[in-house]
Amino acid sequence: MAELVINTCLNYHALVVLALSIFILLSESPSPANAASVQYNVVSLGAKADGKTDSSKAFQSAWASACGSTRAASVYVPQGRFLVKSASFNGPCKNSAITVRIDGTLVAPSNYNVNGNARRWIVFRHVTGVSMIGGTLDGQGTGLWACKLSHKSCPIGATNLLISNSQNILVRGLRSLNSQMFHIVINGCQNVKMQGVKVSASGTSPNTDGIHVGASTGVTILNSKIGTGDDCVSIGPGSNNLWIENVACGPGHGISIGSLGKTQQEDGVQNVTVKTVTFTGTQNGVRIKSWGRPSNGFARNILFQHAIMNNVQNPIIIDQNYCPHNSGCPGQASGVRVSDVTYQDIHGTSATSVAVKFDCSSKYPCTGIRMQDVKLTYRNKVATASCAHADGTASGLVQPSSCL
Ligand SMILES: *[C@@H]1O[C@H](CO)[C@@H](O)[C@H](O)[C@H]1NC(C)=O
Repeated sequence: MAELVINTCLNYHALVVLALSIFILLSESPSPANAASVQYNVVSLGAKADGKTDSSKAFQSAWASACGSTRAASVYVPQGRFLVKSASFNGPCKNSAITVRIDGTLVAPSNYNVNGNARRWIVFRHVTGVSMIGGTLDGQGTGLWACKLSHKSCPIGATNLLISNSQNILVRGLRSLNSQMFHIVINGCQNVKMQGVKVSASGTSPNTDGIHVGASTGVTILNSKIGTGDDCVSIGPGSNNLWIENVACGPGHGISIGSLGKTQQEDGVQNVTVKTVTFTGTQNGVRIKSWGRPSNGFARNILFQHAIMNNVQNPIIIDQNYCPHNSGCPGQASGVRVSDVTYQDIHGTSATSVAVKFDCSSKYPCTGIRMQDVKLTYRNKVATASCAHADGTASGLVQPSSCL
């Protein structure tokens, strides 16, 4: 006890000295904003723009230098095709102003056995304050898709770009091509901005989701164009404060919250805005999907606003009875609570007669569904709507007329 008291007294003086030295240190170190950043060019570090020499080591050492720099730093990838077997850009770093500027293309190995079981190709992990500007990631996934489509046993495949457990990330002007699996995954992150991203893969490629967001807060996806064989954007458990605006989706399975409720204990999804999106020839438009099995998950405070549907199979859909192969779904009632979902200003054409489908949980009916100014046609006629266990209101012009 006595020792503690003495320490506290000493610490008071120590604290004053410490505070003073921090003040001096801070006023001496250059602020990242006006300090010239150091640049590490992968070509100077041995990368070859020939599309066939593995340049992973050069990428890795450029990153190590940028991450180890105590001032703002950048990694630069010039034009050309760089074969990269894999690259993990891991933190924590010594500065939080790193730019990865890519003028060229990163090419994954075409043999899917190289990365297929690694599950990820380019990775940012435990980083803060990283901007990835430009560039193309070519996942060369066609071989693996063919394997999967032929029902052989194949590796699961690698995600082109994984951003995990990171904060304050900007991805601008990235093109992601032909990923083996999901194109871009954002998991366990805060404050991630994706702008002007282009994702493309064949409409028949399996599991090639464009952008998957999970367990993350404050992700925004703006001004992007996504065409794949699966969801353009999929939103998993634990996603909060997500903003998606000005996105063109198709081909693909639409923008989907879910699948939710796969596990009993699950974080919910809340405060999601999806606005000014165009769906063309997609399987779904705006979808909420949950497994038909017990869970404490939820989806609430969701806004779907200003959407155009061009020949979409299920323009507006809540499906709470997802149960592939009809197994592991006792009683088929989803535990996921869906509430406060607004559909506002949604127009266009449905490729099937049922344009609005609310198939909610019999145990926990959907509540607070609001429809406002919705007009969807099927073959130049008003389409139909179907509701099960869905409660809410309709206002303005709503066609097909509401079944809420
Ligand atoms: C909802 O998310 C947006 C960002 O998408 C954020 O600006 C807003 O503050 C959030 N609202 C609440 C109530 O958390």
